[in-house]
Amino acid sequence: MKITQSAWPIVFVSDEFGLETDNGIRLNEIIHELVHTQECRVIKSFSYEDALELFMSRADIGCVIVDWELPDEKVSEKMTPDALVAAIRARNSKVPLLLLTDKLETENLPTDVLAVINGCLWKNADTAEFIAGRIEVHLMEYVAGVYPPFFGELVKYAEEYKYAWHTPGHLGGQGFLRSPAGVAFYKFFGENTFRADLSISVPELGSLLDHEGAVGDAERNSARVFGADRTFYVLNGTSTVNQIIWRSRLVNDELALVDRNCHKSLNYAMVITGAIPVYMVPRRNRRGIIGPVRLSEFGPESVRAKIEACPLVPKARKDDPVKMSALTNSTYDGVCYNVVNIKKQLKKSVESLHFDEAWYAYAKFSPMYADHFGMTDSPVSPDDPPVFCSQSTHKLLTAFSQASMLHIKDGGSEKIDPAEFNESYMMHGSTSPQYSMIASLDVATKMMDDQGGELMHDIIREAVQLRRKIASINRELRGRGSWFFDLWQPKLVRFEERLIAFADADINYLASNQEPWVFNRYNNWHGFEDIEPDYVMLDPIKLTITTPGLDDNGHMDDTGIPATIVTNYLIRHNIVCEKTDYYSFLMLNLLGTTRAKQGTLLAALFAFKEAYDGNLPVTQVFPELASAHPGRYDGEGLADHCTKMHEYLRKHRMLDRMQAAFEVIPDQAMKPADAYHNVVRRNVENVKLDDMRDRVPAVMLVPYPPGIPIIMGGEVLNERALPIWEYLRARQDFENEFPGYEGDIHGVERERSGGRTVFKCLCVKPKQ
Ligand SMILES: Cc1ncc(COP(=O)(O)O)c(C=O)c1O
Repeated sequence: MKITQSAWPIVFVSDEFGLETDNGIRLNEIIHELVHTQECRVIKSFSYEDALELFMSRADIGCVIVDWELPDEKVSEKMTPDALVAAIRARNSKVPLLLLTDKLETENLPTDVLAVINGCLWKNADTAEFIAGRIEVHLMEYVAGVYPPFFGELVKYAEEYKYAWHTPGHLGGQGFLRSPAGVAFYKFFGENTFRADLSISVPELGSLLDHEGAVGDAERNSARVFGADRTFYVLNGTSTVNQIIWRSRLVNDELALVDRNCHKSLNYAMVITGAIPVYMVPRRNRRGIIGPVRLSEFGPESVRAKIEACPLVPKARKDDPVKMSALTNSTYDGVCYNVVNIKKQLKKSVESLHFDEAWYAYAKFSPMYADHFGMTDSPVSPDDPPVFCSQSTHKLLTAFSQASMLHIKDGGSEKIDPAEFNESYMMHGSTSPQYSMIASLDVATKMMDDQGGELMHDIIREAVQLRRKIASINRELRGRGSWFFDLWQPKLVRFEERLIAFADADINYLASNQEPWVFNRYNNWHGFEDIEPDYVMLDPIKLTITTPGLDDNGHMDDTGIPATIVTNYLIRHNIVCEKTDYYSFLMLNLLGTTRAKQGTLLAALFAFKEAYDGNLPVTQVFPELASAHPGRYDGEGLADHCTKMHEYLRKHRMLDRMQAAFEVIPDQAMKPADAYHNVVRRNVENVKLDDMRDRVPAVMLVPYPPGIPIIMGGEVLNERALPIWEYLRARQDFENEFPGYEGDIHGVERERSGGRTVFKCLCVKPKQ
């Protein structure tokens, strides 16, 4: 489908449409010309307020024409024409804004208005044909600027309807039309998808691997917009971004300082580089929420002490430099680091800083996150190392799945050479890139460049609104002796020298200031002891909703509602959350979140409460669970079900065990790379958990929750690591007690043995 000017409607604001007055007739002539000669689409709006509402509710408006002289009864106190002009400009700095006015009125137009409009159209002077033509010129100029560099070229190319004699084999979609399954596929995705699916041999679009032409322009534009010195588009997700970064900086047996709260791709980065990792351990609060690593862990003393203690670093190499450090920013729950303060602490302790910002690509676009993201523009000192950032543009911005960005900021004295860096990039890049993924990165950039500030402001404000709403429902219901969900967030906020309950705090203050979100020691709602000043903040758009049963001090009540039961309920009602912990679950308020979605979530939480309070039968609330495990949950009400699971978690001290397990960094018997080499050489065997004492897993084990490696490939499950073994045992027992609630544990295979589920892991074979 070709996109024509009719896809970009023109909004006309006037009250004279259809009138037989002189103005009315001329207006209709202009609209007639626009529609029939220029083939534009016109939307009529009869008041300034309506026009604004319309403009705010859609982003496809191509031009706005405002009649400056609506009669007084149409000009409400809320919305004057100059207020309409100002509001549209605040939202969109480029959309053509034209005033329809009397020639004589021009000298009365306020300067503020003249400064932001694109022009005036004289109602009575020019011909309808001329005015319609002028409007179309403005519209087309604007629309041409809507397309960012690569996407623009791609659309142009696809609209030239060329005969393709190159890959991909469907040749612009035609190949699909030879069989019914292909036709179904073609119809589902639409012709443009296929005409934009091109071969790397199309020269007009440049080269992703060489960063030339339109692709290169798009990457350079992204670098400017995201605050980097250089940006690379990566089409296999941040998993690959992380590996490209590490490959470019580390070789076998070099040292790396790694956040233990890291994504699996960082473990694989260690495997492919052969790096020797020493770890930074994140704090964890009594709710089990993962917090920041200590700031001191970046300092030279701490780093040297870790290397000294690491058995894999030979004595002669204890003074080797640390080539890389990697930190997850932000954490799942939205804990973000003050990057400027981290840089101050370094004192040359590491040669490169890597921030894994898979969940945080938007930070640059709101003052809320000032200084708390890798590409921040802090004053550069010669000691600053180069900074690398990996961002899943597809996760929290609007790119297609797997489309990520790799950003680089040069160090104070070390500049990253693009040609040298590109060797690592080439190692991971396909020679058949998916062009619509590149275009989606280009468009995500343009969206944030044009309107990132406004979009982020709206998202943060909506998230804060939802936070306040849940806090106030919780307060109201508890006041009546009942219960509701709550949020992991400040309970009290300091505002104008007073402490105010979060539910009553000023929404503009909460949505526009970093201060209430920065962790400090004096208002310890977050549960992390000894938090360093100005070190981390909570991202307001990441909503960790807490369930009853566990308080902030880790105390477990007599009754409680494990979060997994709530999120199972939500899933049954088509609401999918991001992550489930024992007594909390995470929802993300993003670009795609609407008021309707928020309302639906609240309604579902209330419905759960009603089902719980009424102790509705599990067979009714979770029919699939009940029928998958006949007899197991019969006769249980939802409240009984929650209480049984809660009592089990309490009796078996599941949270304490998890806490203890993640405090241990086990002894390292070999590097992650060497552990993997054993997999390649098939020097591995599956070992039942009960027999795993003193064994060395060949792969990492990552239980969800919390999604952090509990043990890495090459570490020993010996006496010191007993809490790890005990936690895994407790997870195995839990699954046997509550069938249907099997959690995800990466690296664990399950087997039925003696009527029970047992865990098995791939371990290195013991030496003979
Ligand atoms: C911290 C972190 N880094 C990297 C990744 C990998 O990102 P992608 O899915 O884009 O490969 C993830 C994915 O969940 C992640 O959580």
